[in-house]
Amino acid sequence: MIRERIEELRRQLELHNYKYYVENNPEISDFEFDTMMRELQDLEREHPEYADPNSPTMRVGSDLTSEFATVRHRYPMLSLGNTYSLDELHEFIDRIEREAGPTDYVCELKFDGTAISLTYDNGALTQAATRGDGVTGDDVTANVRTVRSVPLHLRDGDWPAHFEIRGEILMPYASFDRLNAEREANGEPLFANPRNAAAGTLKQQSSAVVARRGLDCTLYQLAGDNLPFRTHWESLQKAREWGFKISDHMRICHNVAEVDDFIRYWDTARHGLPFPTDGVVIKVNDFAVRRQLGFTAKAPKWAVAYKFKAEQALTRIDSVSFQVGRTGAITPVANLEPVLLAGTTVRRATLHNAEQMARLDIRPGDMVYVEKGGEIIPKITGVDLSQRPADSQPFRYIDRCPVCGTPLVRYEGEAKHYCPNQSGCRPQIIGRIIHFIRRKALDIEGLGEETVELLYDNGLVRTVADLYDLRAEQLSPLPRLGEKSAENIIRSIERSKEVPYARVLFGLGIRFVGETTARYLADHFRSLEGLMQASREELVEAEEIGQRIADSILEYFADAANLEIIRRLRAAGLQFETAERKLASEALAGKSFVVSGRFSRSRDEMKALIESHGGRNLAAVSGNVDYIVAGEKMGPAKLKKAEKLGIRIIDEEEFFRMINGEGAPATQARPAPAAEAQPSAESGTSAAPATDPLPKSTPQPDADTQSGKGAEQRLFD
Ligand code: IVH
Repeated sequence: MIRERIEELRRQLELHNYKYYVENNPEISDFEFDTMMRELQDLEREHPEYADPNSPTMRVGSDLTSEFATVRHRYPMLSLGNTYSLDELHEFIDRIEREAGPTDYVCELKFDGTAISLTYDNGALTQAATRGDGVTGDDVTANVRTVRSVPLHLRDGDWPAHFEIRGEILMPYASFDRLNAEREANGEPLFANPRNAAAGTLKQQSSAVVARRGLDCTLYQLAGDNLPFRTHWESLQKAREWGFKISDHMRICHNVAEVDDFIRYWDTARHGLPFPTDGVVIKVNDFAVRRQLGFTAKAPKWAVAYKFKAEQALTRIDSVSFQVGRTGAITPVANLEPVLLAGTTVRRATLHNAEQMARLDIRPGDMVYVEKGGEIIPKITGVDLSQRPADSQPFRYIDRCPVCGTPLVRYEGEAKHYCPNQSGCRPQIIGRIIHFIRRKALDIEGLGEETVELLYDNGLVRTVADLYDLRAEQLSPLPRLGEKSAENIIRSIERSKEVPYARVLFGLGIRFVGETTARYLADHFRSLEGLMQASREELVEAEEIGQRIADSILEYFADAANLEIIRRLRAAGLQFETAERKLASEALAGKSFVVSGRFSRSRDEMKALIESHGGRNLAAVSGNVDYIVAGEKMGPAKLKKAEKLGIRIIDEEEFFRMINGEGAPATQARPAPAAEAQPSAESGTSAAPATDPLPKSTPQPDADTQSGKGAEQRLFD
């Protein structure tokens, strides 16, 4: 009965997920969807025996970290030859037609993300791997499961029992803009473009972070043995029926003129797409012709990428101004003579930092090239020296804060200059208050940027703690406010005292402690008191906390002004402790674990079990670890260290006995299952694929150029 309900919910959720994310045609409301999801989550929590890695609940990911295993691609992931010239493209087509006669081409957009290979067995997603070096890649399955447009199970259809499908993990512009806005607010470095953001996100340790970043996935190439298709076009139509997101912007072209049309059209039309593209891929449609053409050393001879030129404009830099961020970071910005570029008028371009300006030797008055490549913010790529005035002088970077005049400093390893006057520099103070009241932090409504400036300029707030001393009578006389909004603001400030600890911690604006990091910290240390007392070693022991974050936390709490703010916030009644979790049991209470290796269920699930039974996950083997839960192929270095420290090593079975209340294993440290060193490469030959001729990565013993290392060198750039 329960099992049937779980299965029904999974079916429904997958169907509606598909309608929403692949077809863009939702049939039910978000509320109905969320209600079903919650019911399924509850049932799965109560009945772990029905766990399934491909359950739609996995799409929200897990906060627990995972290491990436390396996997060998069954079919290598090749690169494509590319060109920026139509003449070269025409030569490419001529060469094909000289060899194979007139033939059809499929023209597709070249998506500007990061390549992914998905494996399906009996209709279920079993693996997602990055391209890596083309022969081996990283197993990023847990992360890819969170990408909503990737089907976890295929729809009914005649799909082969085993096949791979390749495509691109993309970050749509909307997700990219949101992500960078958040990072900016957190004082974190920005991603230069959606491609870097997509690739960086896919390698995130925590799949819950991936789930929130709004990735998308478009597929464009099938691979498998004996796939039953005659043409590429046909294979993609089928893949679409099976539930994959296949681009609608493809066309069969019968000759060069039609290929040119497609390119000309998309060279401008692509600017209206919600995701980044950087060219067009032209592929021979007929698989028999593909087989006839074969491969060069690293790419197929039957496909090529035509890349769009980044749009450029030449304009003059009128002046350079400097922005001071909440963290004191200084960003130089070029004020340009307005110029039209890719459909928008560009007036400003970021110059990043002093080094970048020096590298390009940018000087006010220069004529500069402005480009909008994959980047959203236009950047300056060079100076037209022929137009530089003879009396031009190298630019001298500022050495004092443009707002408060304090001498700037540089921190080791950081390209930017900082104004260290945290407590006296207006944009920093206002920036911190604005950060504190953000929706994701204390969520104080009615207080926008302008009002905060007003409060500051009228001497009513100097720190976030001052907000809690405000009275309505002080606010209502201010311009644009009035009694009603003054009362709303006070009420909203009052309500913020209920905001959970993790968000308060985020609101404090500790450098590098973004929303997610704040949640990890709140989970691990449970109270601000605990966090304040943590040593550097204890900080880096928490998951996802590196040295850089640890140092920033220590520095924050070493500052008396910050301690005073915290004292006042505490007195005002803000939440500084994590509410108690509902635990499945306390069987592991007070015990710390490191999970390593492979298990019958995912590592994320193992870690979730530890937490739900009251235990703590630690990131690395150290003296503070009570147990190592060792699976297959646990890293030998970890094992050695654990043995040296005398930490108890238990296997999966013993672990489950502990959870079931059968107590901790009585034995002292005992060796874990030996780390396996099995050769993973398949041996033997396989028949040449009958349809899509992607060569197999498996070494072919008959030709020495194709075996072992030779094969790798042959295939990749
Ligand atoms: S086909 C053997 N089609 O471009 C050919 N690739 O420069 C396999 N890419 O690594 C690739 N859009 O990540 C193909 N419509 C498309 C593509 C595409 C983007 C990427 C892909 C590949 C790179 C090659």
